[in-house]
Amino acid sequence: MNSRRRYAIVGTGGRSVMYFNAILEAYRDHAQLVGLCDISPTRMAWYSRLAVEHHHLSPVPRYIVGDFDNMVREQKPDVVIVTSMDSTHHEYIIRAMELGCDVISEKPMTIDAAKINAIFEAISRTGRKLRVAFNYRYAPVASALRELLARGEIGRILAVDFSWVLDTRHGADYFRRWHAQKDKSGGLLVHKATHHFDLVNWWIDSYPSTVFAMGDLKFYGRKAAEVRGEHYTYDRYTGHPEAQQDPFYFPVDGSSAEYAWATLKELYYDAEKDSGYIRDRNVFGDHVTIEDTMAVMVRYRNNVVMNYSLIAYCPWEGYRVAITGNRGRAELYVKHGSHIIAGQSDRELAAAQDQGLVEQLRVFPMFGTPYDVKIPQVEGAHGGGDTLILQNLFLPDPPPDPLCRAASHIDGAASLLVGISANESIRAGMPVQCDRLVRLPCV
Ligand SMILES: NC(=O)c1ccc[n+]([C@@H]2O[C@H](COP(=O)([O-])OP(=O)(O)OC[C@H]3O[C@@H](n4cnc5c(N)ncnc54)[C@H](O)[C@@H]3O)[C@@H](O)[C@H]2O)c1
Repeated sequence: MNSRRRYAIVGTGGRSVMYFNAILEAYRDHAQLVGLCDISPTRMAWYSRLAVEHHHLSPVPRYIVGDFDNMVREQKPDVVIVTSMDSTHHEYIIRAMELGCDVISEKPMTIDAAKINAIFEAISRTGRKLRVAFNYRYAPVASALRELLARGEIGRILAVDFSWVLDTRHGADYFRRWHAQKDKSGGLLVHKATHHFDLVNWWIDSYPSTVFAMGDLKFYGRKAAEVRGEHYTYDRYTGHPEAQQDPFYFPVDGSSAEYAWATLKELYYDAEKDSGYIRDRNVFGDHVTIEDTMAVMVRYRNNVVMNYSLIAYCPWEGYRVAITGNRGRAELYVKHGSHIIAGQSDRELAAAQDQGLVEQLRVFPMFGTPYDVKIPQVEGAHGGGDTLILQNLFLPDPPPDPLCRAASHIDGAASLLVGISANESIRAGMPVQCDRLVRLPCV
């Protein structure tokens, strides 16, 4: 038992529940949780209570953010898991490495070029390791596509067409809280699309070189609503009975049976007093500074070109990817069950996905008969990706990974390079050369 690796978590919101449960349940023989750090004592106390009441363990030591260094010095974690707000990731990644820890960071690794460069500098100064938790790589459907491309099934890859749509339930949720502020999340081209751009880098085995993008706020936010003649009197949903007919109604105080899952109230509403974090802002409010409609063109170092689009207000959620090579084309269609990730239990999430998950991967050989690729089903969120990434993160001897799914800080940066270049391109109205923003180490 003493050889268990020691983990601390910084950022105790919705996502950290996956790591928390993995450490305390499935991987408890290999891992132990030695500390929690957040701006909110209420949220940390919720997790600590879970450890005591559900797992019959002692309370978990808790540290308010200014005490991060003390947590590391006193609890001596081997690894710090960073699941805080995106714009704060770099602070904890860098400081944890300076204090002698390795780091697992949630995506996005960070949100802009200066912070990427600071992380690179800290890694070369400290020699510590950083893993970026790109769970989508582990989804069997994404792995199957990588496998068939690597086998040369469609020949040399020439072009990618990638369209991701977010719906007005899960997609709208990005517009209710800090994700809606560009300085906190980098916008959806960083916060969300870092997953997608990572998948493309990995599928086609290359990194981006030139990016041109357009992006608008057309649906959410006050201005877009007012153009449609919609005027809202409430800045949040909770406590406003007049909002009950609003299709975006999302009370977090437990007053509505539909949104009565305990974490929503206990992790967010009850923690407003100590964190100031409002979880249910009106999606048509003034706080929205990100885009909801984005189109991006990318040229990669290996000369592949990509058309990508992300729309955040669709009636269904999922994606279509078509990759064309000189010997055929692979088309992937995935429809997600509609869900709101943070706050729902794994069981609720799995049930939602059961109702709606559709995955189809079809190969069209250039002069042959099209065929479907069978996708193995793995239980767990994000198409089974969460289950498999946890195995890889927490087992001392994880199963061999011929698909190279474990993502490094370079992968983390390479995926961000499209998003931050796209942000710059939207701002400047010009194509952007990626290596002017960040020079990736030679790999
Ligand atoms: N890989 C995935 O599929 C996936 C899914 C969901 C979230 N995420 C990522 O996980 C991270 C957390 O997302 P979430 O949904 O849990 O969000 P959340 O808002 O529920 O949690 C964020 C937590 O960070 C804390 N925080 C804010 N400022 C902080 C600071 N300065 N220092 C320390 N903590 C601070 C908040 O108090 C909150 O507890 C994000 O980076 C997000 O991109 C990844």
